[in-house]
Amino acid sequence: MKKVLLIAIALLMVVGGSTFAKDAKKKLITVGYAQVGAESDWRTANTESFKSMFTEANGYKLIFDDAQQKQENQIKAIRNFIQQDVDYIVVAPVVETGWETVLKEAKDAGIPVILSDRQMKLSDNSLYTAWVGGNFLKEGQDAVAWLNDYVKNNKLTNKDLNIVILQGTIGSSAQVGRTQGELEGLAKNPHYKIMGKQTGEFTQAKGQEVMESFLKANPKIDVVFAENDNMAFGAIDAIKAIGKKPGKDIIIISFDAVHEAFNRMIAGEINCDVECNPLHGPRVAEIIQALEAGKPVDKIMYVKEGTFDTTNAKAILPTRKY
Ligand code: AHR
Repeated sequence: MKKVLLIAIALLMVVGGSTFAKDAKKKLITVGYAQVGAESDWRTANTESFKSMFTEANGYKLIFDDAQQKQENQIKAIRNFIQQDVDYIVVAPVVETGWETVLKEAKDAGIPVILSDRQMKLSDNSLYTAWVGGNFLKEGQDAVAWLNDYVKNNKLTNKDLNIVILQGTIGSSAQVGRTQGELEGLAKNPHYKIMGKQTGEFTQAKGQEVMESFLKANPKIDVVFAENDNMAFGAIDAIKAIGKKPGKDIIIISFDAVHEAFNRMIAGEINCDVECNPLHGPRVAEIIQALEAGKPVDKIMYVKEGTFDTTNAKAILPTRKY
């Protein structure tokens, strides 16, 4: 009898143990992240932020998808996440428009969608739960404010300045906001002459190519707005190739403020860099934890960002996390 009892207890422990193990597995929160691509240093830092936050040790299972800068790939990824019945879908949308159908599918499946980094323009904002990212319009405005100060401090107020803009992926909220901030700000000074604006797709190679064509069309360029650091690096190569000094002969204003951009500011090749913070992994995790606890979350959360230049780059670089 005693033997039978012992066997029964042992059996219970085995069955109970495996159920417990299954429960522990089930408790991982599954998150599908539809990432834009790997076009820039900023994007790499953003991917790393998600991968290091959404680990099994932290209670998550991350399904990561790199869309190679293509909206159709992101839509496919979202549909895959729905099929896999993930707990949350996170999207950094390549462009602002064209998302209603797939987000409706996520909503019908009862899966909350969190937007991160770039925003969407939707006819129905109930299709996503929350967004966290940078204020791109303000970034564009801050870049022009820096140029205004530079012009004043360097007694250039009466000089006409020929300006070109290397834009990001057309239709992405990062491009739309920054370009708007730049154009509206620049329009206030009749000495600012916009000689051209064209997309460099947020990549170094395309940034270089577009800058080369700008310089061929007009060798007297005074200022470049590069809507991200990698395009600025490409522009720097194009400027050096025609024997000019970036940062001196041509003022370079960039966005993101990644490590390499700080090195370039210290070297005097980039004059100013407006920060765009990529470390959204923990921010999205906070949103998910609040939702798990049944707490309300803010629909829109802007991250605080700064502006840096050659005067403070050296002192600030050691404090930078990306
Ligand atoms: O959406 C953020 C932008 O996308 C960053 O400025 C850029 O580097 C990235 O590719």
